[in-house]
Amino acid sequence: MTSEAVSVPVSVPTNRKKLFIRTWGCQMNVYDSNRMADVLAPLGYGPAATPEEADMVILNTCHIREKASEKVFSDLGRLRLLKNEKAAAGQKMVLAVAGCVAQAEGAEITARAPWVDIVLGPQTYHRLPEMVARASRAAGAQIDTDFPAEQKFDLLPQVSTDGGPIAFLTIQEGCDKFCSFCVVPYTRGAEFSRPVAAILAEAKRLVSGGAREIALLGQNVNAWHGEAPDGSAWTLSRLLYELAEIDGLARIRYTTSHPRDMDDALIGAHGRIPQLMPFLHLPVQSGSDKMLSAMNRQHKADLFFRIADRLREVRPDMALSSDFIVGHPGEKDEDHAATMALVGRVGFALAYSFKYSQRPGTPAAGQPFQVPEDVKDARLQELQAVLRRQQDDFNRACVGRECDILWTGPGRHPGQVAGRTPWLQPVHAMGPASLAGSLARVRIDAAHPNSLSATLLDEKELACA
Ligand code: 5AD
Ligand code: SF4
Repeated sequence: MTSEAVSVPVSVPTNRKKLFIRTWGCQMNVYDSNRMADVLAPLGYGPAATPEEADMVILNTCHIREKASEKVFSDLGRLRLLKNEKAAAGQKMVLAVAGCVAQAEGAEITARAPWVDIVLGPQTYHRLPEMVARASRAAGAQIDTDFPAEQKFDLLPQVSTDGGPIAFLTIQEGCDKFCSFCVVPYTRGAEFSRPVAAILAEAKRLVSGGAREIALLGQNVNAWHGEAPDGSAWTLSRLLYELAEIDGLARIRYTTSHPRDMDDALIGAHGRIPQLMPFLHLPVQSGSDKMLSAMNRQHKADLFFRIADRLREVRPDMALSSDFIVGHPGEKDEDHAATMALVGRVGFALAYSFKYSQRPGTPAAGQPFQVPEDVKDARLQELQAVLRRQQDDFNRACVGRECDILWTGPGRHPGQVAGRTPWLQPVHAMGPASLAGSLARVRIDAAHPNSLSATLLDEKELACA
């Protein structure tokens, strides 16, 4: 997960009004932004390239770390000026704040930024059209941060698919794990799994709309469970087998998983489903059992080792990615050393690491023994240096290897086509952009800091990766 803002392209039939959505945070927020665009399309909202040309701006926010929510308030300051300029020119701009900051800090937003028209939490996007209509009439912010996730999925329009070869599909939302540091159980609410039939129908629609890869999304995706049409109870592995039967679906991924919910059947599925890509994001947060317990992670380091070993047994080319937090309250030098040892033993293809950030209302925020900022900085630097080296080593080890690439569109330079390896690395090769949406075999020629370059071996489309 990252906290970078991305603007989401919106594909809608009419263009009378323009909508700009800025998205921070995880893939689930990107998915939600697309659903908000879908829900506003019937009201005549089409895509705007910039806030300046928009009649409505939505900031879809992330609350996971303090920096992420502060960025929202500085953006709101800039948008206030824009809104005033537009008002002076006789134009109206509706401003909405959505996502987890809206959920957690709704009252603070309306107090600090009274020029915001709509504040809506992640479970109320289906009510957006009604709120937009009211905001156009009324003065004062509309706030809706209720929690019924079931309704959200029932009432959102059938997904319009963004048409790209890589699609996202939310199958689960919320979290009941209550890790000591984390706001998700408070902002996204209790764990909710979407029913099997709705997921399969959406997956089929995505594939018929051009998707070749589907990434299943959930804050706790591997805790997903659902009732099948025959009344039996399915867990994620069973769903994956079913999705693998969809004609034309070449690649499947799922994110984000919790080590506690990596059951044997799910690990086994990685050895049996060729469409399931050999790359898994599995946050561990720390290598110290003492810290894992303080974090309420409900597992020990040893479980993580066993999962990594077994995944590599059933799928020898399996690569792992993870999240780490340094400087959780109470973390001592020896705990940090245990994290470094875990990293050394497992070896990661990619990882995200963060300094612990105190989130109001979470159990860790009020704990004694907060770690000083300079200690956190030093630990983060040490950890990131090793993780960066491991990522470079992993990318370099790909050089000379042959693999299948899912092409997504033109590369940055003329004559190039860009795509993704099975391990999610961005890759480019000389070749026609018309390959987008197909899979073709390449040999990896070189590893660059954030991408690979390759030579096409065979331009004909393959059945699956
Ligand atoms: N401080 C720092 N990092 C955090 N994360 C979640 N909450 C916090 C926090 N309070 C990180 C975790 C999680 C990732 C999405 O963000 O590593 O897996
Ligand atoms: Fe947050 Fe823990 Fe739930 Fe992940 S498992 S969303 S870190 S509470």
